[in-house]
Amino acid sequence: MNLIIRPSQKKDMQQLMELDRLIWDSTTTPVLLHWDSAGVYEKSYPEGQQTVAADGDRIAGYISYKHPVDIPSNRHVFDMAIGIHPDYQGRKVGSRLMEHLRQTAREQGVRKISLRVLSTNEKAIAFYKAIGFKEEGRLHEEFFLDGKYVDDLLMYKMVDGYEN
Ligand SMILES: CC(C)(COP(=O)(O)OP(=O)(O)OC[C@H]1O[C@@H](n2cnc3c(N)ncnc32)[C@H](O)[C@@H]1OP(=O)(O)O)[C@@H](O)C(=O)NCCC(=O)NCCS
Repeated sequence: MNLIIRPSQKKDMQQLMELDRLIWDSTTTPVLLHWDSAGVYEKSYPEGQQTVAADGDRIAGYISYKHPVDIPSNRHVFDMAIGIHPDYQGRKVGSRLMEHLRQTAREQGVRKISLRVLSTNEKAIAFYKAIGFKEEGRLHEEFFLDGKYVDDLLMYKMVDGYEN
């Protein structure tokens, strides 16, 4: 595996759409989005909006991040989402993308990275904890999925040098 981390390109859209179909279900997301074509996917996620890990011609995973609220007082925070292709899970692709995010955050003066994860998504919670994320809140019974009310966890990690 020879990973290159780069902004998403038009040629990636089909694979990104297929990756989403494989990884998102009612244990990993509160809403399943469906795209009819790569063109429709691209309208939701234009080129450059996601950062991908490419292994040659294959997209192994992606990460995306933005300020939760687009106001000056919130510019020190990134809210993130991550997805790794099942063929590449457990092979440190997620860790590589998180390291890229950490570097980008430092370059942009971002101090805090935050995310939301379903309480049923045990693998993702284990991943986030393994790389230093902590729980900072819990939205009780926030979603009704598969006939059950599910909590949504709020997690965060301070960027190196800004730990408190
Ligand atoms: C969760 C996810 C991002 C992890 O990415 P990954 O590339 O598979 O993780 P890594 O290989 O970098 O793992 C790093 C560490 O996280 C922990 N970890 C990762 N996957 C784990 C699992 N399935 N169970 C327990 N711990 C796990 C381990 O401590 C691992 O270190 P180790 O391999 O030395 O034991 C990936 O599995 C994924 O995309 N899942 C589906 C989509 C999803 O749930 N996204 C998050 C939504 S909030």
